[in-house]
Amino acid sequence: MTIHLPETCLVVLVGPSGSGKSTFVKSHFLPTEILSSDFFRAMLADDDADQSVSAGAFELLHLAALKRLAYRRTTAIDATNVRAESRKTLLEIARKCGVPAVAVVLNVPPEECHSRNQHRVGRSFGPEVVRKHTEGLQLSLSQLGEEGFQAVYVLNGVAEVNAAIFERDPLPIDKNREAGPFDIVGDVHGCLDELQHLLAKLGYDLSDPLNPIPPLGRKLIFVGDLVDRGPDSPGVLRLAMNMIAAGRAFCVAGNHDDKCLRFLKGNGVKVAHGLQLTLDQLATQPPEFREAATAFLGTLPIQLSFDGGRLIVAHAGLPEDLHGKQSARAKAFALYGDTSGESDEFGLPIRANWAENYRGAAMVVYGHVVTRTARWQNRTICIDTGCVFGGELTALRYPEGELVCVPAAREYFEPKRPLSEIPS
Ligand code: CTP
Ligand code: MG
Repeated sequence: MTIHLPETCLVVLVGPSGSGKSTFVKSHFLPTEILSSDFFRAMLADDDADQSVSAGAFELLHLAALKRLAYRRTTAIDATNVRAESRKTLLEIARKCGVPAVAVVLNVPPEECHSRNQHRVGRSFGPEVVRKHTEGLQLSLSQLGEEGFQAVYVLNGVAEVNAAIFERDPLPIDKNREAGPFDIVGDVHGCLDELQHLLAKLGYDLSDPLNPIPPLGRKLIFVGDLVDRGPDSPGVLRLAMNMIAAGRAFCVAGNHDDKCLRFLKGNGVKVAHGLQLTLDQLATQPPEFREAATAFLGTLPIQLSFDGGRLIVAHAGLPEDLHGKQSARAKAFALYGDTSGESDEFGLPIRANWAENYRGAAMVVYGHVVTRTARWQNRTICIDTGCVFGGELTALRYPEGELVCVPAAREYFEPKRPLSEIPS
């Protein structure tokens, strides 16, 4: 069996004493990736089998797991974990760090576990301990799927344990090996003409206008909100889908893309804020395209990290503590920003200014909040210059830091707050 691990995750081994957990993790993980209850018992009592210090040993193990995951280091927990409560604590730690957890169960028959334990030096567990662990394990097998693990792998018997291999998949949000140079484009909102003009200005080859080719070595990044309000959301989707499929572009999800996806999937969403226009435009497209667009929108990550973590792109921005995280909070922030829940006199959400307090070293490029001109604030920049409202479509060239803009041909959608009233 191939066990797929997200690039950063918490791996929780589950298995009775003698099932071979320690042997198994040692052959699949770095010594520093393994946190074993035996190790912490030995640290406290100079004896890895001294059960009287278990409480303290687990306290240290949990703290070490918390710290490692906070530093985004994959961590494997080598302890029996046959009780739901012990797994619950570990799952909470993973959740707190915004890291997925994967359970790997060593379902080895108790006779085998017991027979192995008899040959171990310094391990005095009798068959009753293994029996208790095995009972816990059997109960766990029916519960594990509901506990919050991203995946549960059950290895049945010694042969399956021995044959298991691990594959570590990069997180979908991890594009750190992509170092640029990039052209990062603000909220397009269906403004296909302006997007094509902008790409031409950036030196892209538009021989195929729906599949432009970047200048040598460059790639395009969309900050999301490809759809809604503008005249040709399907065209913008086509262009983005083609370029991404060709490995020439990346895109994060915007709140409009997310809502459009939820509608297309048949989830009840309120049709507002220009979504109807997109739906009308999509209705003129062949059903295959609507299907492809739905699948495409479903693949969009909520944030992307490039260039070894030096560049973060998230639709509504992202404070440093949420970089690289896949938690619900990270998703809400990346899609909707730092909203207080209150609205201003135009009915627009009042936003807390996370960028003002941003002290991170990574550059954060985002859109979502319409500004008349893109301006740096610490190492963050918002590049939504309101094209669909008659403003401009803006690109930031990375790492050059140069801004390239094209004006909107016209106002396609009336803003709640006039662009002229937005401070530049
Ligand atoms: N062992 C074995 N063949 C395997 C795996 C383990 O003979 N395929 C032996 C080990 O050498 C060890 C014993 O079985 O002597 C128990 O394996 P271990 O990996 O230490 O089991 P754990 O599940 O880690 O047991 P505990 O919970 O007691 O730490
Ligand atoms: Mg062990």
